[in-house]
Amino acid sequence: MNVLVIGGGGREHALVMKISQSKKVDKIFCTPGNGGISQYAQTGFGVKATDIDGVVSLAKKLRPDLVVVAPDDPLVLGMVDALNEAGFVTFGPDKAAAIIEGSKVFSKDLMKKYNIPTAGYEVFNDPADVLKYITDTDKYPVVIKADGLALGKGVVIAQNLEEAQDAVKSIMEDKVFGESGSQVVVEEFLTGPEVSVLCFTDGIAVKPMVSSMDHKRALDGDLGLNTGGMGTIAPNPYYTDKIADECMEKIFLPTINAMNSENRRFKGCLYFGLMLTSDGPKVIEYNCRFGDPETQVVLPLLETDIIDIMMAIYNENLSDIDIRWKNEAAACVVIASGGYPKKYETGLKIDGLDAMGQAENVFVYHAGTRYDDGCFYTAGGRVLNVTATGENLKAALDTAYSAVEKISFDKCHYRRDIGKRALMADNS
Ligand code: AMP
Ligand code: GLY
Repeated sequence: MNVLVIGGGGREHALVMKISQSKKVDKIFCTPGNGGISQYAQTGFGVKATDIDGVVSLAKKLRPDLVVVAPDDPLVLGMVDALNEAGFVTFGPDKAAAIIEGSKVFSKDLMKKYNIPTAGYEVFNDPADVLKYITDTDKYPVVIKADGLALGKGVVIAQNLEEAQDAVKSIMEDKVFGESGSQVVVEEFLTGPEVSVLCFTDGIAVKPMVSSMDHKRALDGDLGLNTGGMGTIAPNPYYTDKIADECMEKIFLPTINAMNSENRRFKGCLYFGLMLTSDGPKVIEYNCRFGDPETQVVLPLLETDIIDIMMAIYNENLSDIDIRWKNEAAACVVIASGGYPKKYETGLKIDGLDAMGQAENVFVYHAGTRYDDGCFYTAGGRVLNVTATGENLKAALDTAYSAVEKISFDKCHYRRDIGKRALMADNS
């Protein structure tokens, strides 16, 4: 069969590679793709991931047997609905279900209504009301979140009133995230190790993937600005079997059931961002899609044919599938452009990659690259995701870092402490 993947980052590169391992797959197309993906899938169609009409027309031309919609914005905009209406088989939630990521107010109200553990919160529509609330409260730090999508940057942890006022001003008055900031959620600040758990679900069964840990801040020691993610490891050593059972009972199944009760059956990959607090695991956020860069460490550990899983989800018989994982660990180090997540240059030549954009002993997922005349050039803030597997976390990290040191471009930047804290908790 032929598969069309929508998206163009490291996550989509990881999906393309896993899909290419399926014996059932003949051809893979990807739009918009990137330099690395273009070595493994047909790209260059000139259709953006958010262009719903463009993607439907492309699908009509290519006639794929399955379309995998990976990024949040097309899912929230209803790309899966449009593709289904045009008669295509899809992987990803429809618009009604993708709201679980598209609106923080929706997801917080859902958790409250169905008793799913999460941070306490208040919702505000009017800047005057939120300013009064943050002035009157003595519970600092407070967490301020824009309601809608904001490229992972719509969350501010304000240490004091001044920082909270600045956040409200930029989100609600200056509208730095556009209409995403018309409403805000002000949340209780939680502490504890963070775990990402991506789950396959057809809206009936829930099958968690191997757990992982993201590193969101730009600099070593969890300092600097929040980014889209600077590195990941899997499995997450803080996520014990006991905690996994508790999450299934109190969080995963109740969420799927809650979505069904609201007539919003979720089919696809549901991402649970969890914090393991002293009161038990709590939901920090839901994403309606594979995480980036979590996918880059989770999918290399998947043994089962991903096409079988995706088709079972579409056909709503996921419970019939036995999903197997390698008993190994994976680590991914993101090489970013100097300046990211703020201003950075693009078009810089990348050294240290082979003709396929790869390096020895590791897989290099491309996040933001362009391929031109035999060379790879930077084309984004996060550029490469250097990923290794190993018999344990230390082995995976050592292999990934030795490859990272051999890859370079002008002003490249990466964190040197990915997995460091996890290693201290790891007994494998
Ligand atoms: P998000 O964009 O929702 O993933 O949030 C970004 C990061 O902000 C999360 O990974 C957490 O580290 C942090 N965060 C979000 N909500 C809270 C909270 N209620 N308490 C503490 N940290 C939070
Ligand atoms: N790694 C966080 C996300 O995909 O949103």
